[in-house]
Amino acid sequence: MSTTETTASGIGPVEGESLYGVDHPAPLIEAPRQRTKKTPRTTRGNFEMAAWLFMRLSGIVLVVLVLGHLLIQLFLDGGVSKIGFAFVAGRWANPFWQVWDLAMLWLAMLHGANGLRTVINDYAERANTRLWLKGLLYTATVFTILLGTLVIFTFDPNIR
Ligand code: HEM
Repeated sequence: MSTTETTASGIGPVEGESLYGVDHPAPLIEAPRQRTKKTPRTTRGNFEMAAWLFMRLSGIVLVVLVLGHLLIQLFLDGGVSKIGFAFVAGRWANPFWQVWDLAMLWLAMLHGANGLRTVINDYAERANTRLWLKGLLYTATVFTILLGTLVIFTFDPNIR
C-alpha cells in the first residue's frame, strides 16, 4: 500500500511516514462526504457556526442536567425502586423540577437532532436520501418536544 492510500476506515495507515510530520502530527482523516460542483461553498450564513457552538454549550449544560437526573432517579432515596406515579407527581408539583425536566427535554432533543443532522449530511450521499432522513428526524423531534412539553405542564396528579 502506498503511503497516500487510506484504509477502509478513512484513516491513513499508521506506518505511513509521509502522513506524519511537523504539519501533520496526527493521521489525516478524509471527510466522509466531499463537496461536489453542485454543493455551493457557503449556504446558510452563520447557521453552521451557531449550530457548532450550540453543541458545545448544550453539552456542558446537559452534563449537569443529565448527571443530576441520574443521581436522583437511580441512586438517592432507594434507587429506582422509589420511582412510580407518586414520585413523579411529587416532583412535578415543584416548578423547579418542571423547569429542570423541560430544559433537559429541549436541550437533549435539539442537541441529539442537530448531531444526527450532521451525521446525515456527512454520510447520506443522495440529496433525496438526505431530504427524507432529515424530514423524518425533524418530524420526530418536533413531535417529541411538543408531546413532552405538554405532559410536563398538563400532568394531573389526581387523574383517575
Ligand atoms: C451529557 C452530556 C453531553 C455532552 C457533553 C455532549 C457533547 C457533544 C459534543 C461536544 C458534540 C459535538 C461533537 C462534534 O461536533 O464533533 C456532540 C455530538 C453529538 N451528540 Fe452529544 N453531548 C451530550 C449529550 C448528548 C445526548 C443526551 C444526546 C442524545 C440525545 C447526544 C447526541 C449527540 C449526537 C447524535 C452527536 C453527533 C455525533 C457526531 O457528530 O458524530 N449527546 N455531543
